[in-house]
Amino acid sequence: MPELHFKGSFWMTLDDNEIHRARAMMDEIFGEENFLGSVVWEKADSPRMDADYFSTSHDYLLAYAKDKEFVHFQRLGDEDNEPPEHYNMDDGDGRKYYLKPLRAMGGQGETRESRPNLYFGMDAPDGTKVFPKLQDGRDGAWRWSLKKVQSELNRIDWREGKSGWTPYYRIYADNNIGRPPETIFYNTDVGSSRTAKSQIKAIFGGSASFETPKPIGLLEKILDIATTEHSIVLDSFAGSATTGHAVLNANKKDGGDRRFVLVECMDYADSITAERMRRVINGYAYEGTQREELHRENLTLTSLKKADKLLEHVTSIENLESHRFDAIKKEVKDGELVVTGEKKVTLADVVRQALHEDGFLADDKWVVAHEMLLENRAQTSAPRRDAASTGIATARSAPT
Ligand SMILES: C[S@@+](CC[C@H](N)C(=O)[O-])C[C@H]1O[C@@H](n2cnc3c(N)ncnc32)[C@H](O)[C@@H]1O
Repeated sequence: MPELHFKGSFWMTLDDNEIHRARAMMDEIFGEENFLGSVVWEKADSPRMDADYFSTSHDYLLAYAKDKEFVHFQRLGDEDNEPPEHYNMDDGDGRKYYLKPLRAMGGQGETRESRPNLYFGMDAPDGTKVFPKLQDGRDGAWRWSLKKVQSELNRIDWREGKSGWTPYYRIYADNNIGRPPETIFYNTDVGSSRTAKSQIKAIFGGSASFETPKPIGLLEKILDIATTEHSIVLDSFAGSATTGHAVLNANKKDGGDRRFVLVECMDYADSITAERMRRVINGYAYEGTQREELHRENLTLTSLKKADKLLEHVTSIENLESHRFDAIKKEVKDGELVVTGEKKVTLADVVRQALHEDGFLADDKWVVAHEMLLENRAQTSAPRRDAASTGIATARSAPT
């Protein structure tokens, strides 16, 4: 087992071929009691029409803890909500909390007999040892192990009553408002395999491909749930470095200083895994292909009879226009000859053209530009070199 912090959690993604064996293996490694949950990630956004039986729409995520007692999942959403009224105490730093007795109450786990390791003496403020006792005088059990008590001493408050000192623990509002994560991650929320591929394309253009990338949104959600601002994240099957990218995004979102370690054994460790990180850190410009139709002509018997002239005309277009394009494509489709100039462009190129052509920005251009930017951001959610100030494209020459 990798060296996981005692408060850490372990996440893996896999499909139906492996899930049952992995679950048994992980139960053995981490202990069944440290199973946190199994999540379905909806990876497909449309059915595979060639499937013989089911068209598989999902993969699984398995989550385990090194020690479940110490894992704290962050709640999702509702960050701006005021805490409910029962969080009626303040710790002096503006954090609201309420108290719950540390003694286990109700259910089978409340007796020393059922939870012997949760029966131990705690040091009360007056120096006496306090043991968990049931109302009927039998030995009880605490909710927390000795190790947890020792590591969370600052969450324990003592109150003195008629029968002596009683320990309580603080439940902070900032850890408990919002929703707990649910066990289905929809692609509309975290992205699909297709989203992941287009995110890679947005970063590398056509120059790199990766078969099984995960969408950044999926990793961001895992980080939202399972990390704090100071966590260390290890991905020992890093592939296209989605995890590293998501860590940078998470830090950007909340000002955190999470660190990551990525491990990849294949020869693309440098050209894809590390290169993605370099590009994300340095910023990468939008790249697309701009196409301009240079000539279109119906192919009739008459034009074919004068084929030499036609080819001569096409050659003259190539000579005249080749300096403006990376390639001139000629194709015959549906009885037409079409000559198209193609070139790679960045958003900045497109803006320059827009300004050059009209000298001002018409409303329709702003709309196209805005949509392009939103689409780009949704695909990459990454720092982008000067994207906000260069995000303008013309309707007729928007990159594809
Ligand atoms: C399914 S991919 C990971 C995809 C990744 N989550 C992403 O979003 O791109 C699994 C990766 O783990 C790598 N891998 C497999 N065994 C490995 C090992 N023993 N050590 C390091 N990397 C390994 C593979 O080369 C592959 O790139």
